[in-house]
Amino acid sequence: MDRARAASAHAYCPYSHFMVGAALLTTREQVFTGCNVENISYSLTICAERVALYTAVCAGKKKGDFLALAIAGRMKDRPWQPCAPCGACRQVLAEFSSSHHPLVVVYVDGNGTVREQTISDLLPQGFSF
Ligand code: THU
Repeated sequence: MDRARAASAHAYCPYSHFMVGAALLTTREQVFTGCNVENISYSLTICAERVALYTAVCAGKKKGDFLALAIAGRMKDRPWQPCAPCGACRQVLAEFSSSHHPLVVVYVDGNGTVREQTISDLLPQGFSF
């Protein structure tokens, strides 16, 4: 969570002002981080979670190489807020989770509680074919 919070400092979020950071832990105890990057064409925005995951994939990490992903978010210069992963990120994260190493997502929920849930708990019946 500390690494996720630090990564949020790099968020590019001139439209929402909501700064998100994500930190992804691998089975080899490496950490890959990401922040959200917005675009004036709003739907082109990418979430911090996907930036962290894709950064790891670009570094050679494979499906099943991931243990946990922490997420932290807040409005600029405001206290930390609940920040569960969006639905699109859940589907993307599920792609890289494995039965041997189910990805655990760590985030603050709507009650202010730090939750640790597997991606399959967060995305029951995710798309697959
Ligand atoms: N955002 C994330 O980075 N991760 C999430 O799981 C939800 C939302 C970003 C996208 C956008 O830049 C800002 O938060 C407000 O939606």
